[in-house]
Amino acid sequence: MVAVADRLKGRSFTRVAEWSREELLEVLDLADELKRLQQAREEHHLLPGRTLGMIFQKPSTRTRVSFEVGIFQLGGTGLYLSAGDLQLGRGETIKDTAVVLSRYLDAIMIRTFAQSDVEELAENAAIPVINGLTDSSHPCQALADVMTIRERFGRLEGLKVVYLGDGNNVCASLMVASAKLGMDFVAATPPGYRPDDEVVKVARAAGGSVELVEDPGGAVEGADVLYTDVWTSMGQEDERKKRLRDLAGFGIDGQLVARAGSDAIVLHCLPAHYGEEITEDVLYGPQSAVWDEAENRLHAQKALMALVIR
Ligand code: CP
Ligand code: NVA
Repeated sequence: MVAVADRLKGRSFTRVAEWSREELLEVLDLADELKRLQQAREEHHLLPGRTLGMIFQKPSTRTRVSFEVGIFQLGGTGLYLSAGDLQLGRGETIKDTAVVLSRYLDAIMIRTFAQSDVEELAENAAIPVINGLTDSSHPCQALADVMTIRERFGRLEGLKVVYLGDGNNVCASLMVASAKLGMDFVAATPPGYRPDDEVVKVARAAGGSVELVEDPGGAVEGADVLYTDVWTSMGQEDERKKRLRDLAGFGIDGQLVARAGSDAIVLHCLPAHYGEEITEDVLYGPQSAVWDEAENRLHAQKALMALVIR
């Protein structure tokens, strides 16, 4: 049976920035081990009888399924809680919700709009709170991303990650994770779509090299990883037409991948919009690690839960 240390028990995971390089590596190491055990169909009930509540205020395929299956594979149960069905949707405070849910559950995963709501939930809960995406971050995605990169290259230190398109929530978490783990991060975005200044500061303060550029072609030269995400995130649907216009030219296609070289891999958190931020042939092409990346959500989050849930 795989052994799990106690030192991270009780911790919330609301932002990558709050976790040290060593703590992130602890998650990645356990994730690799849990992946091996799952593939060998070896039981690893590290959280028998524990319950994870999953609050969703936005839709989800990967996050919902990987958390629910993940807690089950660890010997526990997941509870899907649509925010609209909770009293939270009728004005019950985040604080009261946190206090009450802490009496029933062993951990809460939440996907919502404001980062501050996740922080408030974590501050008031007696159990770990895991951020399953907000408008400004997606830390669980970043865990699966770096796990996939390490799996493909056998290391992280010194790799060049180029993120193309909208400098959004996914970009922010990946940037901070890259910085903490010794990768060089380049964001190639149109001027109005740059990542948040504060996040860039946090990443640079973590010791990482972060470059902000506007030329996708030049940026991908020498890249080890090309990364993109949708141009219209959940909640931005009204801006879709403008975003399509502004972000044209920042999509990943075969030509851009060729410019990066044959050893580069392509990542995308999904869902994808063919012909916008990525072409179908790249997504399903030989350099795509996207499907492993999606699978790794499961393993990385299992490791996270096993480490933080008491
Ligand atoms: N990548 C990701 O978070 O996917 P879902 O929106 O399907 O959960
Ligand atoms: N940036 C996207 C990520 C989806 C997983 C969004 O927030 O909708």
